[in-house]
Amino acid sequence: MQVPELSQRFEELFGTRPRIFRAPGRVNLIGEHTDYNEGFVMPAAVGFSTFVAIAARPDRKLVVHSEQFPGNFEFDLDHLPPQRTGNWCDYVLGVATVLQQQGHQLAGANMLIHGEIPIGAGLSSSAAIEVASALALLSLVGGNVPLPEVAKLCRQAENNFVGARVGIMDQFVSCMGKAGHAILLDCRSLQSKLVPIPANLRLVVCNTMVKHDLATGAYNTRRAECEEGVRYFASHNLRIRALRDVSPDLLDQHGRDLPATIWKRCCHVVRENQRTVEAARALADNNLVRVRELMRMSHRSLRDLYEVSCRELDIMLEAAEDLPGFCGGRMTGGGFGGCTVNLVCHENPIEFATRVGERYQRATGITPQIYTCSAEDGVQALS
Ligand code: GLA
Repeated sequence: MQVPELSQRFEELFGTRPRIFRAPGRVNLIGEHTDYNEGFVMPAAVGFSTFVAIAARPDRKLVVHSEQFPGNFEFDLDHLPPQRTGNWCDYVLGVATVLQQQGHQLAGANMLIHGEIPIGAGLSSSAAIEVASALALLSLVGGNVPLPEVAKLCRQAENNFVGARVGIMDQFVSCMGKAGHAILLDCRSLQSKLVPIPANLRLVVCNTMVKHDLATGAYNTRRAECEEGVRYFASHNLRIRALRDVSPDLLDQHGRDLPATIWKRCCHVVRENQRTVEAARALADNNLVRVRELMRMSHRSLRDLYEVSCRELDIMLEAAEDLPGFCGGRMTGGGFGGCTVNLVCHENPIEFATRVGERYQRATGITPQIYTCSAEDGVQALS
């Protein structure tokens, strides 16, 4: 659906003209499962977006519609549900709740939501709906909140209201993304640096079309395992607050004392942080040989040490690795299905996409979706 169409549907439904906000999904080039360990990530916003159309109402109701997702919802802003309802509208409700908790007096509103980010594919459809909703709700009350704060607040909504213990990466890049760039983000300080993506590269995102059930539970288990690692290292050095603070030397010195699983998780995080910082430098220098190596190491580490890849993701990556134009690839996002991201020289992206798709389908019997993207801007007010 295009913006004029969304605006027209809104007018038909609610009888007023809306303002429209757009927030993008993302891919992560490297730095996986490091954000909640206060480490480094390097995502880019991509051209799939969630659109939120909004207009004020004279009462205190929050009315949330979508023509794609089931159910139309109506809430009273003064008596919002205290916890998640189990519906897609929880992302909007969570944001409204956190905004009010932080002292923003929200106004009653009609909202119509249209999403084009594939759901459950690990491209951050939830962060996009949160970020677009936050800006939309704030726009009605003149709330001027800096974008990094919006990102924090949306993460809080997801952690405390929706109940997913995610890090800050997705919300941050959905707010702060910049066309043609990835963002190297320090998830502790929230300092970020734009890293230009060489102009001849396309981001080819390959959707395995699978999402294994263990995804949510396993995400939380990985977090708990990292916390166990932190407790152990902190008992040796009081300055250690997160795996971010553990150096490779310390890991090598004490690794053998840790239970094998915890050691593997810690190894991944500590080295992934180093890879991410190095990859940002290599990408900025157009050293694609090194970027490719680092992405390959990242995928292997996620597969063998962090154990969040799956057969389909490994096959999708193998299907890409020897094709002309391939300059690096890996699984992207939380894992257990979802997508791989590939850097591809732009003379070949269509041929590349077709051949990866054919190979994947032959090996798995599943028809994948392949998207050729570039890095785009973060959240925007469109009208
Ligand atoms: C999900 C979470 C992010 C991050 C990634 C793994 O996408 O939302 O915060 O933890 O997994 O890197």
